[in-house]
Amino acid sequence: MATYSLALIGFGGVNRALAELIRDEPERFVALGFELKVVAITDLGFGSLVQADGIDLGAVLAMPRGASFAGLPGGSAEPRNEDVIKNSPADIVVEATFTSPIDGEPAVSHVRWAVEAGKHVVTTNKGPVALHGAELSRLAEQNSVRFEFEGSVMSGTPVLRLAHTMLAGLQVKGVQGILNGTSNYVLGQMETGLSLDEAVSEAQALGYAEADPTADIGGSDVRLKVAILANELLGANLTPGDVATKGIEDITPDDVARALAEGNRWKLIGQAVRQEDGTVTASVCTLALPASHPLAGISGATNAVSFDTDLLGHVTVSGPGAGRTETAYALISDIIAINTTLKGEVHA
Ligand code: HSE
Repeated sequence: MATYSLALIGFGGVNRALAELIRDEPERFVALGFELKVVAITDLGFGSLVQADGIDLGAVLAMPRGASFAGLPGGSAEPRNEDVIKNSPADIVVEATFTSPIDGEPAVSHVRWAVEAGKHVVTTNKGPVALHGAELSRLAEQNSVRFEFEGSVMSGTPVLRLAHTMLAGLQVKGVQGILNGTSNYVLGQMETGLSLDEAVSEAQALGYAEADPTADIGGSDVRLKVAILANELLGANLTPGDVATKGIEDITPDDVARALAEGNRWKLIGQAVRQEDGTVTASVCTLALPASHPLAGISGATNAVSFDTDLLGHVTVSGPGAGRTETAYALISDIIAINTTLKGEVHA
């Protein structure tokens, strides 16, 4: 059975959730035909740790915030990302640092260093995919490694790989999605009479919203995801700046109540559409959807994507779009895809 050695870049919620699954449920991976061993961890707070024989995940998961890997064998107080990515004995680099919507850094460099060092990369980070996805995929191909990023859109709910595999025989004419749980939750709460600010506070308390919810409410989180969908599913070459974006900030309780009375529901919709001349246009905006629309019934913090296809019409997938374990599952699905390729089976 194959054993894959992992370097975890970032040891926040998502990579900690992955480490917990590896520690607590090794049989889940054995059933998939491989074992996982974490040989390196880097983190802005903890520093870095490299242990080729495998890190004791129970021990590092028990370390409180504010502690340091310095003093452990192979440990340092410095994150040493570049050295760890290039020189640690990892087969797969698991990139889960913060998303920069401006330049994608430092995640873009993490991906470049890894693939140039001949290591596969899996990431949940929207930044590098939305801003440099095509270039990084090409670089990975040139270096005969995989760059996988299922979790960059809708966390572990399958969207990208579902489209690449199960919809491969269809022409996808366009995609529409509810791609931000916070804004969908807020709009739903406004239907019960809450103001936008009250609903945002609730979403923050429930852990859906970012600490600064501007990206959730203003649509820029969805903008990155739409750029990824347009490029990955419709073969476009868009940057986030090409996606006209308007969030939910100007929706009032009156707008919501009026729409409801007419049988409609306001939703923040990210969409990408192939035009008749072959070009792809993408946008983020609020739409009052009639009850018959496939996305009208998506409530709470749930996300959904509806594919408009030639032979099946609309195909819609819904599920979580955030959450530490839900997002860690995206990393697992990426590792499954790498294992499948390495075993010479179907290209996922
Ligand atoms: N804050 C985001 C959301 C998390 O509400 O969907 C996932 O990008």
